[in-house]
Amino acid sequence: KDTVNIGLIGFGTIGSGVVETLNKNIDLVENKVGKKVKLKKVVDLDITTDRGVEISSDVLSTDINDILDDPDIEIVIELMGGYQPALKFITKAMENGKHVVTANKALLAKHWDEIISTAQKNDVRICFEASVGGGIPLLQPLNEGLSANNIQSIYGIINGTANYILTKMTDEGLEFEDVLKEAQKKGYAEADPSFDIEGDDTAQKLIILTILSFGKYIKQDNFHVEGITCITPEDISFAKEELNSCIKLLAIAKLVDGKLEVRVHPTIVPLDHLLSSVNGVFNGVYLVGDVVGPVMMYGPGAGMMPTASAVVGDCIDIIENMEKPVLYGPKSCTVEKIKDISDLE
Ligand code: HSE
Repeated sequence: KDTVNIGLIGFGTIGSGVVETLNKNIDLVENKVGKKVKLKKVVDLDITTDRGVEISSDVLSTDINDILDDPDIEIVIELMGGYQPALKFITKAMENGKHVVTANKALLAKHWDEIISTAQKNDVRICFEASVGGGIPLLQPLNEGLSANNIQSIYGIINGTANYILTKMTDEGLEFEDVLKEAQKKGYAEADPSFDIEGDDTAQKLIILTILSFGKYIKQDNFHVEGITCITPEDISFAKEELNSCIKLLAIAKLVDGKLEVRVHPTIVPLDHLLSSVNGVFNGVYLVGDVVGPVMMYGPGAGMMPTASAVVGDCIDIIENMEKPVLYGPKSCTVEKIKDISDLE
């Protein structure tokens, strides 16, 4: 076929960014894949709000079956977020032979086994670069360019909202609540911002990173997760004045004497460490591989256009590799399931 049709579920901040990216760079995308690429349907419950992007009214629909039951749509982008009905929709899409692109870290972290096995059974791909690190190409390098390494450790600032709040509290002495409101206005925060500030979003992303880096699937109940709600301006000044450090919400997964440690909590980071310069909505992941040594990845971790960049990048990747459904994950795609923290040996 010379046209690839895409269906988009969710016309919110990131969905609008995807529409804008395709409007802006469609020639580039089509030249790259050597085919016509068409956004055939965009489904959302609300199709009347003006999203500030150009879109033809016949593309918009409130009926999910306009995507799931359309045999011409080969790629479904899921950007509605949440657990249900998102899981139901992507499952049906894959059962109907469609490849899936999603940014839904909560869903992947909770239902990894089920989602991957549905993709495998139906011989389709599921790509989720946008689920961790927003616009930073992070997962594909982990799965490909770094795959000659045994990863030893990962330290990540992987929640843009929390990092934005900590940065503004540090640099401008602003109050927690005020900065959170700003982050929400800028479209960085989750629909329920407690996910950002209590560490859950970071934990969900760490679960995905741990699968790709260590081949182990650890559910969130099995590791320590602490957010930034208790951090005060006094803590921040103390870290700076007394310890020449800053405070960052870190996702940590590392091998210690052959055992894997996984945790999320605010951490004192010395000002001479690269992670201390990851500020605002930017994310940074510092990892150590046994062959490459230390690698730092850095870029915008949330927001409309950076996240759309990762989503459309995944679509291009799928179109270029349609005949070869390769899943993310350790090459064999067998991931050891960790039920209890005491199994982490
Ligand atoms: N709420 C998330 C963040 C969005 O602030 O990082 C990107 O995953």
